[in-house]
Amino acid sequence: MSEVKDTRKVTIKAFRFNAETDYLPYTKQYEMEVGKDELILDLMNRIKWEHDGSFSYRRSCRHGICGACAIKVNGKSVLACKQNAIELLNLFDNDITLEPSSKKRAIKDLIIDKTDFWDKHAAVKPFIVADIDPRPASESKQSVAQFNALLDADLCIQCGACHYACPALEVNDAFLGPAALAAAYRFTADTRDEATEERLQITFESGSGVWDCVKCFECAEACPKEVNPIEKIGKLHNMQFEHGVAVSNVATRHAEGFLRGMKKTGYLDEADIVTYSEGYLGMYKHLGTALKMMKTGKIHWHSGIPFIDSIPKIKNLDEVQKLIAISQTNKL
Ligand code: SF4
Ligand code: SF4
Ligand code: FES
Repeated sequence: MSEVKDTRKVTIKAFRFNAETDYLPYTKQYEMEVGKDELILDLMNRIKWEHDGSFSYRRSCRHGICGACAIKVNGKSVLACKQNAIELLNLFDNDITLEPSSKKRAIKDLIIDKTDFWDKHAAVKPFIVADIDPRPASESKQSVAQFNALLDADLCIQCGACHYACPALEVNDAFLGPAALAAAYRFTADTRDEATEERLQITFESGSGVWDCVKCFECAEACPKEVNPIEKIGKLHNMQFEHGVAVSNVATRHAEGFLRGMKKTGYLDEADIVTYSEGYLGMYKHLGTALKMMKTGKIHWHSGIPFIDSIPKIKNLDEVQKLIAISQTNKL
């Protein structure tokens, strides 16, 4: 982390937009001296209190707990009440641009419409489903190991930073998104919950479920609470196989294809994965890409043809196979 300097004269560029009166958003600049202990939220408050009372944003707890103040500063997802301003200035060369988490959902300045986020969150049943005696004689106890199985998923504050950083969601409105899927994992992994199959089925659905994640890790990067949603998505993949919810389709065969190639040669064999997951007929969709890959030497004409066993094998393939055997947690 870079060294924090005492004060700096800063120009802040703030995204301004009022959905009721403006046709397009615009940027307004504010000059101020920024102290070494000031947070991004302090600067936002100073814009509102000292420069322009109409500047709008959400904030509540000021302790990184409520998730209200998630915005983007210079394109980086932050909780405004947790982020030191000078630290960011050091990172971005004295430039601060305040923007909403999702510009296309802006209602007023940094305030966005989070309806899609909340709808998707609700869709995964983000609560424990259990038939509990209304007058229980004792608490529902969990062991430390059972609690640890929830991992860090319980730390989510529903700030939406991961949701609005997710490129899969940007092109596919139906995708549940990283926060909802992390919540689905959190309650499915809870030993007190009785809706495992139902939630795994919801998160298996093609188009909206875990198989539509492109594993770019943007959600892990954006999350201010280190929930690591992509890791939880991986765990849901495994749980779907373990509980027999996953059926054979392009997405699950794609996962199997990875394993098959690694076991056979120790290499990721792109052509074989396509043949295996989409079949020979489906493979024709990718002929253009395949020809380009052949031109650059990334695959050979016989790649993916099972009866021509010409893919080289990695040195120490038996070591790779042993590692797979001891680390594999599900039966693909
Ligand atoms: S890893 Fe998956 S869920 Fe996370 S941002 Fe990328 S596509 Fe979205
Ligand atoms: S997973 Fe992290 S980034 Fe996503 S909503 Fe929860 S706290 Fe925010
Ligand atoms: S104001 Fe609550 S998380 Fe920032």
